[in-house]
Amino acid sequence: MLQVLASKRDGYPLISAHRGGAAYAPENTMAAFVSGHSRGADLLELDVQLTRDGHLVVFHDEYLDRTTNGHGLLGAHTLAELRELDAGSWFSPEFAGERIPTFEEVVEWSTDVGIPLNVELKTGPYPFMDVNLAVKVVEILKKYDRIGDCLCISFDHILIAEVKRRAPGLACAINYTARLIDPIGTARLAGADILNAHRLLISPDLTAAAHQAGLGVQCFCDNPAEAKYLARMGVDFMDADHPDVIKAAVRSIPVEEIGKPISIFEGK
Ligand code: G3P
Ligand code: MG
Repeated sequence: MLQVLASKRDGYPLISAHRGGAAYAPENTMAAFVSGHSRGADLLELDVQLTRDGHLVVFHDEYLDRTTNGHGLLGAHTLAELRELDAGSWFSPEFAGERIPTFEEVVEWSTDVGIPLNVELKTGPYPFMDVNLAVKVVEILKKYDRIGDCLCISFDHILIAEVKRRAPGLACAINYTARLIDPIGTARLAGADILNAHRLLISPDLTAAAHQAGLGVQCFCDNPAEAKYLARMGVDFMDADHPDVIKAAVRSIPVEEIGKPISIFEGK
């Protein structure tokens, strides 16, 4: 079995609360992470970006407008400016006053409660593909002794290579949505441990080849029927907006059938 988070594996895929579990609370806020943890997620996925003054904050979009009362590029703002914003009201009035968390705040809290993190390094138009994102993420995970129980994932494979150079023991995934000619070779070039593929690119052949090569397979999936199909194909990690629903769905399959693909014509 893939060694990443092996102590947490019991034959079923590990379920990661996407942005903390975006269906239940404003994404990437402390309220979302507390909710994801309370709903039994195995990991919490979050997105990390650099502020204009070089701090790490947890935020998904390039722009502030969709999920805060601020405007413009996140990366054009200082940490102090970002901390003034309301990141909860857009979702529901009950979350008014939720702030954009710092990465360190989430790492510290998750260390206290004992839940692994699935850390996505986001690179946007500004700051442009800054290596400091990888440098600072590794620094903070080392500070809290979290190299052994977190994942780092990114569409920026060059940053993943940088993370692996600085922390070879930190499990990393390359994200991709294109149909790559050589996904395993691409992972090897970055030094990655996991293929985080668009779910429609996952096939029994891909999971078998990845596992044969010692790599894990991850994807986003928030549909219970599809999650069961992916679990039968041997997907190791799934990111879900409803982590409780997806965890219950995959665990409704007898454990002996996990990793034993069925034909799509047998139904999902
Ligand atoms: O596995 C997470 C990947 O699907 C990226 O998610 O929501 O940050 O674009 P997102
Ligand atoms: Mg993400």
